[in-house]
Amino acid sequence: MKELVLLFSVILLLQAPGSLELDNELSGDISSILINLSSRETASFPRYPNNVIVDNATYDFIIVGSGPSGSVLANRLSENPEWSILLLEAGEEPSWITDIPVACGALEYSGYNWGYTCEPQSGFCRDCTDGILQYPHGKVLGGSSIINYMIYTRGNKLDFDRWAAMGNPGWSFDDILPYFLKLESAHLAIKDNGYHNSDGPLSVSDASYRSKLVDVYVKASQEAGLPYVDNNGQNQIGVSYVQTTTKNGRRSDAENAYLRPIRNRNNIKIQKASQATKILINPASKTAYGVEYINGGKTYRAFATKEVISSAGSFNSPQLLMLSGIGPKTHLKQLGITVQSDLPVGKKMYDHALFPGVVFQLNDSIPINLMEEIVDPLTYVQFSEGKGFLTSSNTVEAISYIKTNVSTDPDDSYPDIELVMYGISPAADHGVLIRRTYNIDQNTYDKVFKPLESKYTYQVSPMLLHPKSLGRIKLRSRNPLHPPKFYANYFTDPENEDIATLIAGIRAIQKINRTPAMQKYNATIVRTPLAGCEDIEFDTDEYWECGIRSIISSLYHQTASCKMGPNNDPEAVVDHKLKVHGINRLRVVDVSVIPVPMTAHTVAVAYMVGERASDIIKKDYGM
Ligand SMILES: Cc1cc2nc3c(=O)[nH]c(=O)nc-3n(C[C@H](O)[C@H](O)[C@H](O)COP(=O)(O)OP(=O)(O)OC[C@H]3O[C@@H](n4cnc5c(N)ncnc54)[C@H](O)[C@@H]3O)c2cc1C
Ligand SMILES: *[C@@H]1O[C@H](CO)[C@@H](O)[C@H](O)[C@H]1NC(C)=O
Ligand SMILES: *[C@@H]1O[C@H](CO)[C@@H](O)[C@H](O)[C@H]1NC(C)=O
Ligand SMILES: *[C@@H]1O[C@H](CO)[C@@H](O)[C@H](O)[C@H]1NC(C)=O
Ligand SMILES: *[C@@H]1O[C@H](CO)[C@@H](O)[C@H](O)[C@H]1NC(C)=O
Ligand SMILES: *[C@@H]1O[C@H](CO)[C@@H](O)[C@H](O)[C@H]1NC(C)=O
Repeated sequence: MKELVLLFSVILLLQAPGSLELDNELSGDISSILINLSSRETASFPRYPNNVIVDNATYDFIIVGSGPSGSVLANRLSENPEWSILLLEAGEEPSWITDIPVACGALEYSGYNWGYTCEPQSGFCRDCTDGILQYPHGKVLGGSSIINYMIYTRGNKLDFDRWAAMGNPGWSFDDILPYFLKLESAHLAIKDNGYHNSDGPLSVSDASYRSKLVDVYVKASQEAGLPYVDNNGQNQIGVSYVQTTTKNGRRSDAENAYLRPIRNRNNIKIQKASQATKILINPASKTAYGVEYINGGKTYRAFATKEVISSAGSFNSPQLLMLSGIGPKTHLKQLGITVQSDLPVGKKMYDHALFPGVVFQLNDSIPINLMEEIVDPLTYVQFSEGKGFLTSSNTVEAISYIKTNVSTDPDDSYPDIELVMYGISPAADHGVLIRRTYNIDQNTYDKVFKPLESKYTYQVSPMLLHPKSLGRIKLRSRNPLHPPKFYANYFTDPENEDIATLIAGIRAIQKINRTPAMQKYNATIVRTPLAGCEDIEFDTDEYWECGIRSIISSLYHQTASCKMGPNNDPEAVVDHKLKVHGINRLRVVDVSVIPVPMTAHTVAVAYMVGERASDIIKKDYGM
């Protein structure tokens, strides 16, 4: 069974050679529990039978992509029984494995990921395997919400107020808060009044699994001066236990929250394994009237009488637009694509870089012992009750927003760094899976992390919220099946502010580490220098710059590749109603329209954009 193989691969991946061995009796137990779990869980599949494909069929709306934004649109637009809707998704449907929170790291190695990588560049990832930064992206009904780490953060109020101030009426914090409320069903111990709702489709919960370490860490952060906050509430700056998109210990996502409940509506056709390759545009009237797509190797067409909506995400919306002649004129001409609208598609892309190299050693067993959890049959039994290690969001346990002393932002409530606290370090699985997630090369792993495998370790990683360095997406060719080219361009800003901000983040982590709460466990920073940085004195700013340029990861929050802005904004691709400039009946509705680097992980915003866009569209048609 495919699902079983996938879950076993998680377990097997975690079984590094020479590490804890599953003895036969134990693995026998686990396998029978898994087989039980699997036979219970797979009864309801497939949930989306293959449709009979009707070529040249006509709908009111065609939505391309079923990520959080596209799924919300599909749900809300099909509330109107008068409208017919086609939802095209390139990927297959998710399985019960994707409901298991801790499996998310392994899902990167499944068919649910497009498997994109960045073009190697010299200023970062110097100790990554082949110098490559990975850019995973969901390819499945539900999009990246199926493979993501489930961290739920909406962003700073100022993100939205600034977004509105850039010429986008209707997107200020006061305008969009009702949509954040509409989408969520909160099950949280601590929540600010007026900021949460209990009857939306998407479940948001406190993580049901916690290490002993996270309690100590949260206390230490408070001792270091950070208030404890609901970071989706009144004030964002401070420390919080992570809020996750989960329900009873299982993943809550775009598919199970927004698509599954409506899959039998007869005015919507949900078509998986169907990849749009081109938006059909009438060159004379500049009007979109349908799409071309591939299913099972065959090309089909579908027509839209009202609108085509691209919700293909921050990588594939720009790709689809450019393939259809909407993009930078010179770039398209070089590839022989007829230009329909000369727009700066893909020219600017924000991303969040995270440095995984700040690791601490403790003298007590309070971090997560991943190896023990994995081989404990109880882990699998507890999952049936929505508890235990399988419900961990890939070991992310707490997050903090801070404003470092290098920030030049005039507003004191606007953070520049997020600290992501994991209950483990990259040594926890003996180099099998986590090492690959960050793409740390084997030699570096063996030197820095291998000696920690038998120690009690954890990591806190600074994430750069508002990068000055900008990424770029281009087409590789005019073939829609070729992956786009990604240039992350990390740490290329002329003043080197991005590096300085990350270093300021490291200093904040060290301050937390010096508190009595942490020192009770003799928390000590691991001083083994990263490969290539041996000659620099450890813990100097120069050392950390070297370290940051050797290992770095994306947290996959790319935005602005189809930026929202008014006609006179030379960077804008869509207007505040998400309509593509210069083309009729075409919108982009996904995180690619977000015009700022968010002070957040982006999935909550993706749902919000879907909810808000649904209302805009309904209003445009007099509803
Ligand atoms: C590994 C990973 C971890 C993450 N962790 C978090 C986290 O913990 N918290 C958080 O807030 N955010 C996280 N994110 C980011 C978050 O999941 C995304 O920002 C969010 O899912 C974006 O939603 P979207 O609707 O814009 O598009 P996407 O989720 O990208 O969905 C787009 C969909 O369109 C489909 N598609 C693309 N091209 C075509 C085509 N041509 N034809 C048909 N279909 C197409 C894709 O297959 C996909 O299903 C993570 C992302 C990744 C990849
Ligand atoms: C599997 O299920 C069967 C029947 O429901 C039960 O008898 C058996 O004990 C279960 N095995 C495990 C390991 O849970
Ligand atoms: C759909 O339209 C195309 C182009 O007009 C045509 O070649 C094709 O045969 C049509 N398909 C069907 C099933 O009618
Ligand atoms: C920020 O604080 C650090 C100490 O944590 C100090 O060395 C540095 O000079 C400060 N920078 C600014 C710009 O104040
Ligand atoms: C604390 O950690 C340091 C560095 O790892 C070690 O030398 C020392 O012995 C430890 N002290 C205790 C009490 O564990
Ligand atoms: C860990 O180190 C602290 C001092 O740094 C000490 O008080 C404590 O007893 C040690 N704990 C263990 C389990 O060794």
